[in-house]
Amino acid sequence: MLGKNITIIGGSGGMGQFFGRYFKRHGFNVTLLARRENKLKTAAENLGVNYELDLKKSVENADIVIVSIPIKSTSELIQKIAPLMKNNSLLFDITSLKQEIYMILREIQKKYPINCLSIHPMFGPGIKTTKNYVILVLKIGGTEQYEEIIDDLISLFRSDGFIITETTPDIHDSKIALTLGVPHMFNILFLNLLRRANDSLSELTRYTGTTFLLQKIFAESIIQREMEMFGEIQIENDKFHKVIDLFEDLIKEYKFIIKNKDLIGFKKIFTEGLEYSKEDNHFNDSYKYFYEFMKILKEKKE
Ligand SMILES: NC(=O)c1ccc[n+]([C@@H]2O[C@H](COP(=O)([O-])OP(=O)(O)OC[C@H]3O[C@@H](n4cnc5c(N)ncnc54)[C@H](OP(=O)(O)O)[C@@H]3O)[C@@H](O)[C@H]2O)c1
Repeated sequence: MLGKNITIIGGSGGMGQFFGRYFKRHGFNVTLLARRENKLKTAAENLGVNYELDLKKSVENADIVIVSIPIKSTSELIQKIAPLMKNNSLLFDITSLKQEIYMILREIQKKYPINCLSIHPMFGPGIKTTKNYVILVLKIGGTEQYEEIIDDLISLFRSDGFIITETTPDIHDSKIALTLGVPHMFNILFLNLLRRANDSLSELTRYTGTTFLLQKIFAESIIQREMEMFGEIQIENDKFHKVIDLFEDLIKEYKFIIKNKDLIGFKKIFTEGLEYSKEDNHFNDSYKYFYEFMKILKEKKE
């Protein structure tokens, strides 16, 4: 059974506060830890939970420890806290990349009598509802109670409408390169392309119908998010490095088609994209969704 004392390392951050609120709502005793006291104290007061600055004190009595800090610091911190945790407790991270962390957790799990899991919430701290949001789960292993403890946690998530998808580190990082790395990259490049073309967004918006407006809103929402994390997701993931090579080849091909006024080549590449997207569940209603989003934007403007 899941114990009730939960400590969140990185508790003053976006996701730390999300999980603090979430577990408090489910009756857990939540303690937040981070390094800077001011922000931590404010977060704890806002959520109505405890906070702690001493790492050892924060984890030694916890039944569950969630590590919610930047990807590059997670492995080191996990190695530091694992020996301090009590027997049969549960340790899990929520990082956006899994290859390295999975190996570290496996080593830790063999060394200490604790339960280890790695999850990746496929959403940011701003979500308004939990229904149908995906949590990717990588089981590591642990004590004799491992399955029972993990099932309890997963059942809790499922009871709030989260969709749980079990995966492996290799598959996880390959998919994330495409589902996070690629859209992030396109939107960062979109804004930088316009900037380099020397036109302001407000001026361009005066010449805008629908497609540009929606794309611009999407890019603007992306560019205001966690810069460091977005960088890590692309830079630290070897799978993304392969994707960017593919993208370079594609751009070269595309440029060749355009510069050579090759309409047949253009139709070919367009049709290949079309045929690929036809297999998708959202395909048939995508135009309808597009106009629903547009309606929101146009009504807001008036
Ligand atoms: N944001 C998202 O959309 C999202 C979605 C899914 C998964 N994730 C994952 O969630 C994790 C946290 O992301 P976030 O967006 O919540 O980050 P964040 O807002 O930047 O928060 C990071 C938190 O970690 C603390 N921290 C940083 N280094 C620390 C250390 N060495 N020891 C203790 N505390 C430390 C920070 O406070 P101090 O600096 O004061 O210590 C802060 O509380 C990342 O691994 C990310 O990949 C994020």
